Amino acid sequence: MRTPFHSLPLLFFSQSLLLGQCRPDPDPLQDYCIADNKNTFFINGVPCIDPKQASSSHFVTSSLSKPGNTTNSFGFSVTATNTVNLPGLNTLGLILARVDIAANGIVPPHSHPRASEVITCLKGLLLVGFTDTSNRAFTQNLNPGESFVFPKGLIHYIYNRDSKQPALALSGLNSQNPGAQIASLATFASKPAIPDEILKRLFKLVVRSGDYS
Ligand SMILES: *[C@@H]1O[C@H](CO)[C@@H](O)[C@H](O)[C@H]1NC(C)=O
Repeated sequence: MRTPFHSLPLLFFSQSLLLGQCRPDPDPLQDYCIADNKNTFFINGVPCIDPKQASSSHFVTSSLSKPGNTTNSFGFSVTATNTVNLPGLNTLGLILARVDIAANGIVPPHSHPRASEVITCLKGLLLVGFTDTSNRAFTQNLNPGESFVFPKGLIHYIYNRDSKQPALALSGLNSQNPGAQIASLATFASKPAIPDEILKRLFKLVVRSGDYS
């Protein structure tokens, strides 16, 4: 059966809805669920305060107004909204992060197991990229005003190409708790350490795959 051309976008849209490809965290069952940060028990998320106690202050934060401290071995700092500094975002399935990167600093290859990320370069010259599950790499230079998207769970990096000026970027992620795993730290700086015989095998694998190039 031929599909009329004009209904194709609708078809793709409803297909992606059916397959759940657009979904961030589970939908809230009420307008909002302001995080009750005083609780001491664990649930999947953060419980809410009585909606009658809600005020504008629960929905505003200046947490992203100041540059982070980029004096560390990689030269970057990420400051993100969360259920503590912005309790009103609880259950809404998103956060916003401020990324400061020193001259030639890097946010090293890492992944967010629970979120896709869209990054906008606000200041400076960035080199960004990610690798997909077939080890195909995508890289792009970003100038101020340009955005790039890192698909959910894939390893990606952000590098400040400028050797003199710091860079500033803003990232939106579609989970209130995206998680972040830095590949090199997870491999070489875990506690306790990954057994030597495993790491030795890993090194051999890297050398051998280099031979093929
Ligand atoms: C930034 O962090 C470094 C290293 O931890 C520290 O020595 C320095 O005082 C910090 N700078 C500011 C402005 O907090």
